Amino acid sequence: MTLIDGKAVSAAVKERIKKEIEEKGLKIGLAVVIVGNDQASRVYVNNKKKACEFCGITSYEYALPEESTEEQLLKLVDKLNEDGRVNGILVQLPLPKQIDEKKIIERISPEKDVDAFNAVNVGKIMIGNYSFLPCTPAGVMELIKSTGTEISGKECVVIGRSNIVGKPMAMLLLHESATVTICHSKTSNLKDVCSRADILVSAVGKAGFVTADMVKEGAVVIDVGMNRNSEGKLCGDVDFDNVKDKCSFITPVPGGVGPMTIAMLMENTLRAGKLQSL
Ligand code: GUN
Repeated sequence: MTLIDGKAVSAAVKERIKKEIEEKGLKIGLAVVIVGNDQASRVYVNNKKKACEFCGITSYEYALPEESTEEQLLKLVDKLNEDGRVNGILVQLPLPKQIDEKKIIERISPEKDVDAFNAVNVGKIMIGNYSFLPCTPAGVMELIKSTGTEISGKECVVIGRSNIVGKPMAMLLLHESATVTICHSKTSNLKDVCSRADILVSAVGKAGFVTADMVKEGAVVIDVGMNRNSEGKLCGDVDFDNVKDKCSFITPVPGGVGPMTIAMLMENTLRAGKLQSL
C-alpha cells in the first residue's frame, strides 16, 4: 500500500499558481463569505485565506452574524458581483437555517462562482465544457492521476450522491472514460458493488463506513469523508487500519483530499481572474 500525499500534491498545485501570478503580475481577488459561528466552517475559511496569501491572491473576508437574513446576504452577493476587485465569490456552506442556500448560490454571478455550484456551471460540467471544475472532485482527480493509475476503462464506484461531491465526481470520472457506478443510502447490494471497484471514492460522512470486505484487492481508495470518531479524532469514512493492507493506494484523513479542495479553489480563482480580463 502507498499513501497518497495530498499535502505534497496540493503544495505543487499552489506553487504553480503562485508562480504564474507572480510572473504575469496578475491581480486576483477572492471574496470569502462566512455566516454564523460554525467551528468547522471557521477552520475551512481560515485555511482558504491562508492559501490565498500563499498564492498571491487577495482575500476579502465578510463575516456575517448568525442571525443575518437572506435579504442581507443576497445584498452582499449583489455587491460582490459588481466589485471589480473580486474575481471569485466563495460563500461557505452550510448557512444558517433561515437562509435558502440554493437562492444564494444562484445569485452568485456564474463568472465568479469558483465553487462551481450554480446551475450554469453544473450544466457545463455535465456537457464537459468547463469554466470551473468542482473543487473537491477536481482534487480527487489530481490525486488519482498522481498515482499513475489509468482511469480509462476502469470500474469506478462513488459512494454518495451529493451535489457538491458525489454527482460531479461521477461526471469527471465518466469524462475520463471510466465505467462509473454511484451508490447511496438506498443501494441494496453496497458491498458487492463496492468490491468491484478498481477506484473507490467514498463521500458519505460516516466514520468507519467503508470496511475491508467492501474493497477489492489492489484498489485505489479515495476518502472524502471528514468525521470525528468516538475519541473526537478527525477521520474519514474508511476503516483505514484494516483497508490499508488490501489496497494499492489510499488517501489519509487528514492530509488527503482536504488540502486538494483548497488548491483547486485557488486554481478556479486564478482561472476566473484570467477569464474576466479577456
Ligand atoms: N462546505 C463544505 N464544503 C464546501 C465547499 O467546497 N465550498 C463551500 N463554499 N462550502 C463548503
